[in-house]
Amino acid sequence: MSENLRPESMARINTPELAREFIDAQVKELRAQIGDKKVLLALSGGVDSSVVAALLIKAIGQQLVCVHVNHGLLRKGEPEQVIRVFREELGANLIYVDAVDRFLDALAGVSEPESKRKIIGKIFIDVFAEEAKKLEGIEFLGQGTIYPDILESKGVKAHHNVGGLPEDLNFELVEPVKLLYKDEVRVVGKELGLPDSMVFRQPFPGPGLGVRCVGAITRDRLEALREADAIVREEIGKLPVVPWQYFCAIPDFISTGIKYVDGKGERYMGWAVVVRAVNTVDAVTATVPEIPFSVLCTIRDRIIANVPGVNRVLWDISEKPVSTIEWE
Ligand code: XMP
Repeated sequence: MSENLRPESMARINTPELAREFIDAQVKELRAQIGDKKVLLALSGGVDSSVVAALLIKAIGQQLVCVHVNHGLLRKGEPEQVIRVFREELGANLIYVDAVDRFLDALAGVSEPESKRKIIGKIFIDVFAEEAKKLEGIEFLGQGTIYPDILESKGVKAHHNVGGLPEDLNFELVEPVKLLYKDEVRVVGKELGLPDSMVFRQPFPGPGLGVRCVGAITRDRLEALREADAIVREEIGKLPVVPWQYFCAIPDFISTGIKYVDGKGERYMGWAVVVRAVNTVDAVTATVPEIPFSVLCTIRDRIIANVPGVNRVLWDISEKPVSTIEWE
């Protein structure tokens, strides 16, 4: 049987005990596979790469080198969280690469969605390969491949347009969660001590806020999106039952607003931000949950008061189909 096929006898990992068994078995296998060699891992802070990092830290400690590339399109606080959890709490060997200018310079003026994705994907690979070439003695490449990636996309991370890896690096792959479904990866992550905000985080596109900053990305509009998105996630996240995915998008148009200077109203042009929340099982179709109007008003007030350049807050009630979940 192919090692990429999940044996029918494999129990669904849905309890801490089963997660511990899986972790113990993987730690043994990883040590046997890797020996005293080094493993390189692109650590985005997403569930899959984070769980793989935590497993490898447990198995081989400092023989793991994590590279976290900040492409400037992460959500508020994400790079800081990766550094705090992995470098400070888990003691990982973590290289943080601030590539924000490189990505945003390359994206300047590019408005076509697929071109934006391609640029982000290509620079990601370039940056990662440059870091890899600076290191010596790396023989393995860790990857957060999970079972649906194998079933749906021949082992390439589904939707993962920025995670493709440099082909010329010639590493042997280490994919400890490749037979697990997403819910199992989360149970294992929790058992490994990762914070809930990492283990249960919402799906987030590989090209990040790049697909939500509609049209050509500018730094100021991207910053407004990041701030507004943090407010939306905080407020909707307080609901007793949170939607499957909730976030903000920022279209590339401006509309008229009014601000008062010395008691006199002045018209000015500003951005609109769009609040999006959906429920779905498989992201193929999606419905829009009811959000209490008071929560929407709090979001509106906080965004208008705190996010420079935004003068309008919209609530997207479109379902999938016909609308996609993301705006690009
Ligand atoms: P759409 O917009 O196609 O999104 O209805 C369906 C789900 O996929 C996520 N998504 C992406 N994930 N890279 C990713 O890793 C992407 O380019 C991408 N585009 C969409 C989206 O957030 C939703 O959960």
